[in-house]
Amino acid sequence: MHDLVKNGMVTLPVMSLFFASSGALQGRAISHASTDFSRFKQYIGMNQEYQVIILGAGAAGLMCSITAAKRGRKVLVIDHANKVGKKILMSGGGRCNFTNYSIEPDNYLASNPHFCKSALSRYSQWQFIELVEQYGIEYYDKGLGQLFCKNSSKQIRDLLINECQKYGVKIQLKTSVENILALAGSCGFKLKTNLEEYHCQSLVIATGGLSIPTMGATGFGYKIAQQFDHQIIPTNPALTPLTFDKKWLAKTKDLPGNAIDIQVSCNGQSFNEAMLFTHKGLSGPAILQISSYWKPGQPIVINLLPALDVADWLQENKQSRGEIQLKTLLSSKFSQAIANYLVTLLGFNGKLKQIETNDLNKVEKQLSQWTLYPIGYEGYRVAEVTRGGIDTNDISSKTFESTKQKNLYFIGEVLDVTGHLGGYNFQWAWASGRAAGSFV
Ligand code: FDA
Repeated sequence: MHDLVKNGMVTLPVMSLFFASSGALQGRAISHASTDFSRFKQYIGMNQEYQVIILGAGAAGLMCSITAAKRGRKVLVIDHANKVGKKILMSGGGRCNFTNYSIEPDNYLASNPHFCKSALSRYSQWQFIELVEQYGIEYYDKGLGQLFCKNSSKQIRDLLINECQKYGVKIQLKTSVENILALAGSCGFKLKTNLEEYHCQSLVIATGGLSIPTMGATGFGYKIAQQFDHQIIPTNPALTPLTFDKKWLAKTKDLPGNAIDIQVSCNGQSFNEAMLFTHKGLSGPAILQISSYWKPGQPIVINLLPALDVADWLQENKQSRGEIQLKTLLSSKFSQAIANYLVTLLGFNGKLKQIETNDLNKVEKQLSQWTLYPIGYEGYRVAEVTRGGIDTNDISSKTFESTKQKNLYFIGEVLDVTGHLGGYNFQWAWASGRAAGSFV
């Protein structure tokens, strides 16, 4: 039985016929308290017609289903996973960073940077915040406008399930689509699954990207897109830690666990956030952000003291505190382990007053322009999102309908739109789901 029902938190007055419950169906259909299985069986036998079928019960698919069902459409959501919204549950360290106070098109990477504008302006962060408030979910700004649940991500997932139930969306889990056939004359689609065959007028692909395969991520959406002649912009892990070679890891072996506020830059983009040393390389919000811009072979440049004019700071200290050691000065800004590492890297220590101008310039460069060459991404296993995806040039930015195949829609992360860290990816899921749901 579904948690909401089990916990008795929600009463479900006008349950849709499409929500059924039985031992036999447990696990593949979201169920409610009714035990009228014969009624459901009769329904199964008689009618597998839906106006809208959505593949993927994640953030985008659920928002799309709610919007379409609110308009009176008969909607089925299919997912191969055993739970609804698994990524929502694990997001934001269990507290779901569901949106951001400041959402701008510049917060998204895409081959077509204009594509996201229309949907984001039609469903803003304020509309989602209003929905969260309607449900009495407490939230807070963790900094940089990032809004997190005070209690649990489950509240956001349950909000969406409750809205689905309210408007009669059927959600069918543990169901794999084996093939999709577009019927001639724009008569919709036939879907063969491991359980039943379905027919729908509109088909929405909301199967997400490749990150965290153990949570159900697949390249299925790209495969369907290619079946209908869509181009795929090459994909790679994004919002992911970066890895370094053995030599670098040996030199930094005392640093894992040390975090520091930095500015990191690559390919014309900079982020001022925290960086964390790990046993494989670098992580933390600043590194996750820059991973979306970094390409193998390129350097990243780190300013370890972004709040200071490092040259002035060194000069002033040389004049006013000439007797102190460089390592002591560095220890006033960094942990002892990092200060030790920096003087080893520089190859000299000593009293500030004894450091020659040339060497002081080296210190300045080391602190404000530390240039590093990562060897790779930590990969889809830990990446929060996938960069690249279905080329949006063949998708309507208003309706999200394919320009190659009538009544076929693509939404959410499966598209070539990748948000920054900070609630931007969920806002994209809500906005694109809402846009398509208004037209399917
Ligand atoms: P999503 O991946 O959510 O859903 C796709 C659904 O399709 C899944 O339920 C999957 O099972 C299903 N599916 C896949 N293949 C299928 C197939 N072949 N057949 C049937 N179903 C299939 N973002 C943010 O804004 N704030 C945050 O706090 C976080 N935190 C975070 C943490 C972690 C660990 C990760 C991995 C990601 C985040 N994100 C995030 C990113 C965010 O989770 C992501 O961008 C959205 O969930 C994307 O929503 P979609 O609905 O597009 O895909």
